Amino acid sequence: DLPPVLAIDGPGGAGKGTVSRALAQRLGWNYLDSGAIYRALAVAVRRRGVALDDLAAVVATARAMDLSFRTADGFAVLLDGDDVSAEIQREETGAAASHIAPHPEVRAVLLEKQRAFRRPPGLVADGRDMGTVVFADAPYKVFLTASAEVRAERRYKQLKEQGLDVNLGQLTLELEERDRRDRERAVSPLVPAADATVVDSSGLTIDQVIARVLDLING
Ligand code: C5P
Repeated sequence: DLPPVLAIDGPGGAGKGTVSRALAQRLGWNYLDSGAIYRALAVAVRRRGVALDDLAAVVATARAMDLSFRTADGFAVLLDGDDVSAEIQREETGAAASHIAPHPEVRAVLLEKQRAFRRPPGLVADGRDMGTVVFADAPYKVFLTASAEVRAERRYKQLKEQGLDVNLGQLTLELEERDRRDRERAVSPLVPAADATVVDSSGLTIDQVIARVLDLING
């Protein structure tokens, strides 16, 4: 029997990362930040000097990259041995990721890397297609949204806290553009799974969102 999965999908800035990490800790389950895998690929592609639209080279990079996650002291992403955690957070990395993510050839290579995270006693997986594709059989599925304004403000605060220089107006436009790309792509578009519970976090605190999801799991 496969361990249970709690799939948490939604657009950028909806609070998926914060909520998923807290839930994984509360449940004692493993955690998959699938966006970090797409972002790490974007970093690997840039480091190799590969153009985002050179599909064959992007796929070759996806196959060749050595990706690992360190959770002992916080959450670090290691790409070919280098800690790329800070680089991964940048909004331009997210935007680059969303340019290579629409290709089914790219997604196919990353699919097994994501499924490998499904280990006992369970997995909280956060992304765009956790409940629809990667873990379509997940017993628990949440689609976490928030208004575009709230999402842009949250992302703004997050990046500011990391000491990054960001502009709220520009960030809002970038986030909307990225969401549009994610929603409109042909393969694995950002869409709630038919059996997902939609939670709008706009007027909720993190703790309220966590409580709502735990209610769902505990029936
Ligand atoms: O969630 P995050 O902002 O880190 O994701 C970055 C980008 O990676 C998304 O905008 C999306 O294009 C892509 N992605 C994806 N499928 C996932 C997770 C992320 O296509 N499961």
